[in-house]
Amino acid sequence: MDGGLRRASLIENVRFNAAVVIPAAVQGLFSRRRAAVGAATRAGVDGQAIALLTGMARRYKGRPIWIRLGREQAVLVLGPEDAVRVLEQAPEPFASDPPSKRNGMLAFQPDAVTISRGALWRNRRRFNEAVLSGGGGPLLRTWLDASDDELDRMLAGPVAIAAGELDWQAFHGMMQRLARRIVLGEGAAEDEALTRLLEDLMADANALPGETGPEVGQLEEMIARHVDRADRGSLVARFSGAPATARTNSVGQVPHWLFALGDTLAINLFRALAVLGSDGDGLAGARRSRELLRACLQEAMRLWPTTPILVRETTKAVEIGGERIPKGTQVVISNLLGHRNPDRLDQADRFAPETWVHGDAASEPSFNHFSRGPQACPGATLAIGVGEETLGSLIDRFTPRTLSGFVDPAKPMPRMLDFFSIRIRLDPVWAR
Ligand code: HEM
Repeated sequence: MDGGLRRASLIENVRFNAAVVIPAAVQGLFSRRRAAVGAATRAGVDGQAIALLTGMARRYKGRPIWIRLGREQAVLVLGPEDAVRVLEQAPEPFASDPPSKRNGMLAFQPDAVTISRGALWRNRRRFNEAVLSGGGGPLLRTWLDASDDELDRMLAGPVAIAAGELDWQAFHGMMQRLARRIVLGEGAAEDEALTRLLEDLMADANALPGETGPEVGQLEEMIARHVDRADRGSLVARFSGAPATARTNSVGQVPHWLFALGDTLAINLFRALAVLGSDGDGLAGARRSRELLRACLQEAMRLWPTTPILVRETTKAVEIGGERIPKGTQVVISNLLGHRNPDRLDQADRFAPETWVHGDAASEPSFNHFSRGPQACPGATLAIGVGEETLGSLIDRFTPRTLSGFVDPAKPMPRMLDFFSIRIRLDPVWAR
């Protein structure tokens, strides 16, 4: 039945669950828990995971193996070619709604594209792509103006009050407002209640309830009010031109965009800023060229991927590594291994933005922080565009100096960078 793939040893199974599976659940799969992230960082769990997975990739020569994922037997992919193949064949036969993701996401976005399958996935994906792509031109200008505006607000508010110090709370708050403005329009800037409700539902999702949260209806009503207003320049103003049917649930696609901009992008930007505030050469490069600035953001995402594992579930019996795997099997791809494997990457533990400009980082098959294939992130271009503007405008006007979360550019990059505890001093550029 196991098709002849080798099996992880007992000790590897124990260590895999201890270093990869349990820490991810404890830190919060959908809403990160501050204390748990701090504890996991102090314990260095991602370092242990990378050492374990690198050792296994060596031992099994990059071939997939059977591993225990909690109580279930799953396939762990250990080589980039297999990872690419699995990701390229989504959503069938490799669906992106394994039980943990489905049981969690049902709590706050039961109709999300990413936990849909077959014709329904295609329907919702088409809608997501239509709304999220083509952010150029006048629309992008609106978003960039909103980003500058929100920066000003944060600098004049929490940063000024903290005498020039920027912490996660201030940065996160700014990004959440920006997310509301980009997605739902100007009229949503003050709608903190909506963000709070989404946050609460996502915190509930951490317990993997497996059913639609009782307040999802309320959340969708709150979103629908902004959709009806269709503020000029917002993503929801594009709904009228996007292909949708009754089954799409356009409003139900919105929670993903809000947390992806307000949380996921925020975490990645704050880490990139912490690196730039630690690395004078990196900062000079990012100020010199927008291409290098974008590369710094890609590098932060490579070094500390916000999606450390991608999990798929087979929708039918399928061949992996030359063997036949039964329907309903979970398939695990580790971005920690793919992004930090010293056997494959010269830059594994180095901050190397230049590899995105002059090297082959952009075509490296093991870099999957935006995933890849048909279910790759449809918001990647938007995320990079907004991220570039927000970071670019900040470092044009201020010199960041990282106080907490400093990464020494002369040393190997730490395996974890706890965004909650990053603090950055912002000195106006004229004081440089
Ligand atoms: C730095 C920011 C971002 C990162 C690192 C990121 C990363 C990812 C990853 C890894 C996936 C695949 C997850 C999986 O298969 O389990 C994904 C999917 C997705 N992302 Fe993003 N994302 C970002 C920003 C955004 C933004 C800004 C949006 C929309 C406004 C967005 C919308 C989506 C959607 C709708 C999917 C599901 C696609 C599908 O399943 O067909 N993301 N993203």
